[in-house]
Amino acid sequence: MHARDFSRDECDHIFELTEFFYSQYKRKELKQIARDKMIALLFFEPSTRTSFAFESAIFHLGGGCMGEQGVEGTSYKKGESLTDGIRMVDKFCDLIIMRHPEVDAPRKAAEVADVPVINCGDGNNQHPTQPLLELFAIKKLKGRMTDLNVALIGDLKHMRVDHSIVYTLAMYKNHIMYVSPPELTMPEEITNEVKRAYNAEISVMEPPEALEIADVVYITPVAKRRFEDPAEYEKFASLGTYHLTKKALEKAKKDLLILAPLPRYEEVPTELDESPYQGYFKMYEYAVASKMAILTAVLGLDLA
Ligand code: CP
Repeated sequence: MHARDFSRDECDHIFELTEFFYSQYKRKELKQIARDKMIALLFFEPSTRTSFAFESAIFHLGGGCMGEQGVEGTSYKKGESLTDGIRMVDKFCDLIIMRHPEVDAPRKAAEVADVPVINCGDGNNQHPTQPLLELFAIKKLKGRMTDLNVALIGDLKHMRVDHSIVYTLAMYKNHIMYVSPPELTMPEEITNEVKRAYNAEISVMEPPEALEIADVVYITPVAKRRFEDPAEYEKFASLGTYHLTKKALEKAKKDLLILAPLPRYEEVPTELDESPYQGYFKMYEYAVASKMAILTAVLGLDLA
């Protein structure tokens, strides 16, 4: 599963379902529509937001969940191959939700699995369910998810969340601004594909000019775990230019929204947590509803 695989109609449907589940969730009026479903969480990499939001969504839909604690206690730790393990797990569940450090691991799993596989992150490649939350949050917090100036700030070369959200932002006709050290800009093949597929408007900008016109900032860290070469990481780690501070935001629009996938390092200082721009904690208010929407669509659950 890749962000490019979602059509606009499918995204619209997910967002409608998210709205539906969010209001039900707030009113505690949920129906147990997944009560005969067992869902496997196979997280080969750490996660707080994605894994717990899915686990909570499964609970609120009345489904069963296995593997919540990661793969630590499984035969993967004895050296079982990814695909052999998947050929077992798919006998015990209706859906596999997976994160893996290797690019394309979820696709390889999907090729041998008899049940659907949701990609929740594969190496530096993709995290395609994340923009479904982020675009929904933009709509809730800005009033629309289209025709916005959105600055993608940080390590666009390595961060899979950037490689994913760029497709969804372009599909909803936003102006995308790349703000990164030139060496850490978006991979060319992604930019070319996004431009081709959505006729996307993409600009490359420096932080001051982007922060002045941005309606939304989406900021990612320069994260050590994403670099193969530690020396390359050290080169960029201390570049304060790509950190947000109150000073850097002096000329920002009053209604700027700042999103970050989290966890954060130095790119989003805690001094911004109480500012009106802060959306990076607020957006996770919608995470469980977003995951319920994805589960409903993928499992074909009946809302009636
Ligand atoms: N945003 C995100 O994917 O967070 P986790 O790594 O905690 O799941």
